[in-house]
This record gives sequence, structure tokens and C-alpha cells, in this order.
Amino acid sequence: MRYNVKNIENIIYKHLPEETGYQKLVIEAMNYSFRAGGKRLRPMLMKLCYDMFASEQNTDIIGPFMAAIEMIHTYSLIHDDLPALDNDMLRRGQPTCHAKYGEDIAILAGDGLLNFAFATASKAFLACPGSVDIEKAFVSLTTRPGIHGMIGGQVLDVIMSGKSLDDDQINFININKTAALIVCAMEIGALLGGVDEKTCENIGKIATCIGLAFQVQDDILDIIGDEAKLGKPVKSDEKNEKYNYATVHGLEAAKTYVKTMSEEANKYLDELQVYDEEARSDLKELINSLINREF
Ligand code: IPE
Ligand code: IPE
Ligand code: MG
Ligand code: MG
Ligand code: MG
Repeated sequence: MRYNVKNIENIIYKHLPEETGYQKLVIEAMNYSFRAGGKRLRPMLMKLCYDMFASEQNTDIIGPFMAAIEMIHTYSLIHDDLPALDNDMLRRGQPTCHAKYGEDIAILAGDGLLNFAFATASKAFLACPGSVDIEKAFVSLTTRPGIHGMIGGQVLDVIMSGKSLDDDQINFININKTAALIVCAMEIGALLGGVDEKTCENIGKIATCIGLAFQVQDDILDIIGDEAKLGKPVKSDEKNEKYNYATVHGLEAAKTYVKTMSEEANKYLDELQVYDEEARSDLKELINSLINREF
């Protein structure tokens, strides 16, 4: 496997804002949550998809988008942890943003990261003016995390707290709150690598399977995980009376689901025509490593 957390962080940390001015405090809070840790899964998936298709590497194009997707993900975690949503105090092994900086600054830090993500990705336009691939990637970055993607899923997740869910609702939540950002990451990598529409669609299918498996494993770990390894509280879903695939169908069915979805992702991945075979096998290794992840 060519990538680890360190390689990815070397690329994305370059794009963090400088902590200066009267707004220093909010920028500190943004950088605190961004740097706290995490698997860096979304920028890693983006880079692997880029490598699978790009015939030449351009860090000035892929780098800003990798940083941007992690900024959006980090903002989503800051807001997800707020007292009005999941009300959690630990994230990435550290106090959550609101626990450290207060609710007011945490809300603004989330807003700040979302906007800064778009400002960061737009640097790619300057690196390669007039590129349709970059335009398509930017559309994905602005759309998938929104009301018809991640926010849409978070909304059903929060309004259904305390209420049982049917399979259609579970699927809607997982496709949107989690898979949408993974689709976004992988689709951007592929688009910047210059794929055609059909391949982009197939990348979307693979990413959806990975995202669905990822959220169900997250739900499993909320029940049987170890807080020290996870770096976030266990039993958060129980505390908030959140129903999900694991609580509705049971742990064994949930584990089978994670495995089946991951196998499906690998099957679609095998069918793709790629430029770099090594990147494909790295991506498979990553997909397989997520099946039994403990954090
Ligand atoms: C947590 O995401 C939120 C979910 C969508 C389940 P990750 O498990 O990728 O969190 P980090 O980035 O590693 O902290
Ligand atoms: C959060 O899902 C997904 C997003 C932040 C969009 P969870 O609420 O299950 O994530 P964790 O368990 O707090 O990381
Ligand atoms: Mg939540
Ligand atoms: Mg949560
Ligand atoms: Mg969870």
C-alpha cells in the first residue's frame, strides 16, 4: 500500500489557514479539529482513484481537493458532535471542538471549514484554467455534501432519533449522511484523473458500497467498539436512541452486510479499466482493511 495517514497529511496540511487576525480563535478551532487525527479515509480514497486513472500526477490540482474533502468531513464531525445533534465530548481521541472552544466558536469553526474547503479547492482552477474536469470535480464538491447528500442524511438521522426505522429509511440515512461524501471523494479523484461518464458512474457504485459498509461498521463499533481505540464515545447511538442497521437487524446481520457490501465494491472495481494496476490493488487492500476495522 503506497499511502498511509502521514503521506496524506503531508499533502493536506499545506492548505490549512494561518492563525492570525481578530478571527484567530476560530481558525485555531478549525485547525485543532482538522489536525486532531482521523483515518484520512476520504482524501486517501480520492488520491487512489486519481492514481488509478491519471496518466500524469499534478499535486497542484489533486492536493487542494484532497484538503477540501477533509475540511468538509471535519466540519461535519464538529457539527455532528454539538449538543443539539449527538452531544458527544470526545472526537479523534481529543475533546470535541465545542468541548474545547465552546459551542459558539465550534459552530463558526464548522462554517469556516465548509467555506474554506471551497476556497481551497478553487486553487485548482488557477493551476489549470479552463479545465472541464476541474469544473465537474468542483460541482461534485459543492453538491454531494449538501441537502441532496450528506445534510439530507443527517436531517433524517436527527429527526428520527427515538423512533424506529424501516429499511428504506436506514438506507436513505446511510447513502446520504455517509456514502455521499465517499462518492464525492472517489468521483473527484476519478474526474481529475480524466475518466469518462460511464467510468465515473461505476466509481460512484463502488463508492456507495464502500460508504454503506463503512456506516454499518461505524454502527457496529458504537455497540461493541473500544473507546480508547475509536477515539470517540461508544454507546452514543444508544444514548440518543438512534436506530440503525446494527440495532434493527442485530450484530451478526450487520457484520454480514459489511462483508457483502465490501465484496460488491471489489467486484465492481475488478471490472474497471484502469491506467495504474498498483493503485487498483492498493484500493482493494484499503477496502478489505475496513471490513474488520476497530477504529
Ligand atoms: C466518522 O468518520 C463519521 C462517519 C461517517 C461514520 P470517520 O470514521 O472516517 O472519522 P475519522 O476521520 O477517522 O475521524
Ligand atoms: C455522522 O454519523 C455522519 C456525519 C458526520 C455526516 P455518526 O453520528 O454515526 O458519526 P460518529 O459515530 O459520531 O462518528
Ligand atoms: Mg450523528
Ligand atoms: Mg455522531
Ligand atoms: Mg456513529
